[in-house]
Amino acid sequence: MVKAGLEDIVAAESSICDVDGTAGRLIYRGYDIHDLAENSTFEEVIYLLWFGQLPTKSELDKLTKDLNSNRALPKPVIDALHNYPKKALPMEVLRTAVSMLSMYDPDGDDNSIPASTRKATRLMAQFPTIVAYWDCIRNGRDLKAPKEDLTIAANFLYMLKGETPDEVSTKSLDIALILHADHELNASTFAGRVAAATLTDMYSAVVAAIGTLKGPLHGGANQEVIKMLIEINDPEKAKAYVEKKLAEHQKMMGFGHRVYKTEDPRAHHLRIMSEELGKRLKDERWYKMSREIEEVVFKQKGLYANVDFYSASVYYMLGIPIDLFTPIFAISRMSGWAAHILEQLSNNRLIRPRADYTGARNLKYAAITSR
Ligand code: SDX
Repeated sequence: MVKAGLEDIVAAESSICDVDGTAGRLIYRGYDIHDLAENSTFEEVIYLLWFGQLPTKSELDKLTKDLNSNRALPKPVIDALHNYPKKALPMEVLRTAVSMLSMYDPDGDDNSIPASTRKATRLMAQFPTIVAYWDCIRNGRDLKAPKEDLTIAANFLYMLKGETPDEVSTKSLDIALILHADHELNASTFAGRVAAATLTDMYSAVVAAIGTLKGPLHGGANQEVIKMLIEINDPEKAKAYVEKKLAEHQKMMGFGHRVYKTEDPRAHHLRIMSEELGKRLKDERWYKMSREIEEVVFKQKGLYANVDFYSASVYYMLGIPIDLFTPIFAISRMSGWAAHILEQLSNNRLIRPRADYTGARNLKYAAITSR
């Protein structure tokens, strides 16, 4: 009997990320996520994921310079963004713009590891520009040229809102980017690795990953969580709302995980951020509702919140439009996708599993007139 959804199937060896679902531990290249969330920066984590170790000062400076100087989009891509239908979903826009960018990459069809690393750097740099520009374009706001002296988190908020963000907002987003950066063979990373293993290019593999992340069972869940919180709107009403949903056997978005059988360690940090941002805004509704929901779902179903649950209220309180939540996940996960695609390419074999055939056999072809 095949277990549906490849549950527990080990499909690759990897030295990038380890998820211990029983202990609730997450490790990037040997470093515990708690240590990285408390002490590192997203730029440093990108280096760690791509090159296998924490950078020296000069290594970090070089990567940061490469990332910050590659943020601008080619003019034809900006022109294309202006021509997309204004109702296009940001994830559709990201997927399509990334596909288009491949035609303007100076490394062309060179898929060597050095060229693929340069492509990953450009993609990492350009993802936030695409997302911020799309929000400006669809709302008729002017486009801000990226600022090279700002971090990824700060520059994204700057391009999105048109003003340099405060330190708390920048730090909150930076930590969220660290927390979402990689997660072993999650569905989008697996999709990216499968594509890369055919020896297609970095862009095609990343497009496969973006399309996969978009689904509500994966990265799309954070948007569904905030829609639910907005619908409830009052911590007093949260318990009854969840009980009704569960009684109707509906899925609670932001809960459950294929691997974690205990708390997702990323939720711990996002929960704290959600509380702190609520206090700062003097509006603790979103945090309080989330706590209520968490309690009821655990009591009734034994399910824990995953990364998408508290990231929803965090992004909302940072003033980020709801349909940009999943693109922000993509901005962060671009770092992990690239690490995995490069790892796949450095020791590649085509990924081609088998299916257990359950259909008919030995049927005889009948002419259409006699069917
Ligand atoms: C991410 O894989 C990764 O690493 C992903 C990720 C990453 O960083 O890349 O961590 C990011 O994708 C987080 C997950 C975001 N998705 C959601 O929040 C959507 C809601 N959650 C689920 O639908 C579900 O928990 C999944 C998709 C996350 C996991 O699905 P599985 O492993 O296939 O589990 P399942 O759907 O088969 O559920 C097993 C049981 C079922 O009950 P029984 O039929 O056995 O009685 O648990 C129940 C489910 O009904 N269950 C839920 C539930 N999640 C599981 N019941 C209600 N609400 C839920 N959220």
